[in-house]
Amino acid sequence: MKPAASTGQRPKPPASAVVGMVGGGQLARMTAQAAISLGIELRILSTDPCDSALTAGAEHVLGSPQDLNALKDFAAGCDVVTYDHEHVPFHHQQALYDHGVRLAPPPHAALFGQDKLHARRTMKAQHCPVPDFVHARSHAEIGRFAADHGWPLVAKTSRGGYDGRGVWILHDSSQARHLLRKLSQGLLLEPKLDISTEIAVLVSRSPTGETKIYPAVETVQRDGMCREILAPAPISVELAAQARHLAIRLAAEIGAVGVIAVEMFHTADGLVINEVALRPHNSGHFTIEGAVTSQFEQHLRAVLGWPLGETTPTAPAVATVNVIGSATAIDPASRLPAALTVPGIHVHLYRKAPRPGRKLGHVTALGTTLPETLQRARHAAALLGGNPDE
Ligand SMILES: Nc1ncnc2c1ncn2[C@@H]1O[C@H](COP(=O)(O)OP(=O)(O)O)[C@@H](O)[C@H]1O
Ligand SMILES: [Mg+2]
Repeated sequence: MKPAASTGQRPKPPASAVVGMVGGGQLARMTAQAAISLGIELRILSTDPCDSALTAGAEHVLGSPQDLNALKDFAAGCDVVTYDHEHVPFHHQQALYDHGVRLAPPPHAALFGQDKLHARRTMKAQHCPVPDFVHARSHAEIGRFAADHGWPLVAKTSRGGYDGRGVWILHDSSQARHLLRKLSQGLLLEPKLDISTEIAVLVSRSPTGETKIYPAVETVQRDGMCREILAPAPISVELAAQARHLAIRLAAEIGAVGVIAVEMFHTADGLVINEVALRPHNSGHFTIEGAVTSQFEQHLRAVLGWPLGETTPTAPAVATVNVIGSATAIDPASRLPAALTVPGIHVHLYRKAPRPGRKLGHVTALGTTLPETLQRARHAAALLGGNPDE
């Protein structure tokens, strides 16, 4: 065979699927890892060159999710566009969709993860169990809800909240009045529930309706933020089955495409759905090592309409512990050698600037019993966070 004449240019790699992801946080970073294995080209639209996925060298375009032209230009080179956050305005999603862009999830489904009030109202109309709630825009409405349910109440912003930012516990009407003055669009108000277990279920759904579901997990929160994930959730088989059934039903009713995480509360009155995220989710990080197919690979397969992977656990017990920035703003990267002495743990650091209360990484351990497995993951996470006594 005659050697190709050298043009001085590198030959282009063969065409692969191109997935666009809006947002360059740690979810995009870990999706990029999965994309490499599958030979998928992941392109990221991000505002900040220091974003977690960009510092990992992911292919990217700098641009704002608020800028429709930037979104259109970005989408033009992609087979499908998906998200690592909820900040693309709904009317922009709709404009892209009308323009013929393949969006996964589609706009009407993505709205569920974007607007808690919309999600609550729709789930209630679909007879899914949800906490009692009201959209309170006046002090009189708050007063009526408090008269029915008593204090304390939980107030939320409908949009833009995460990791407990956007959730407040209100102990009396003066606190409610104060918050209402700050939030002109009103409060999503609900009773403060006595929660025995917080449960999350991850489902993936492709455009054909093919669905795969992961084991129900327990999520442990502190200050409204997820700290630990225990897989499988140490709950009864019946409760886990009920949670999985609810999640599958919801994913279909929403018309989700990709991974969807359904957060639930177990109370004395049974299971209620708290919120849903239509993207890879913190509660699914355990799947990277703890399931046959990670949530990130599954998301890529689902948004591309490819066959979904097995969700079988790879160990009897899997525990993930988040590494959260401490008040001393220690960089977990500086503690890595110490943490790596803990046997059998998997460390993921997101290379984010260490700030108090920020998710900087996570540790997953696999084992035979949850208490022992959790203990190892906790120990490594505490070493990374600079709190070895935790
Ligand atoms: N009605 C409630 N009663 C008791 N705790 C709640 C209630 N709503 C939320 N929480 C607590 O706050 C956490 C964060 O609330 P969530 O609605 O999930 O907001 P975020 O979007 O910040 O995750 C929950 O995981 C739970 O621990
Ligand atoms: Mg939540």
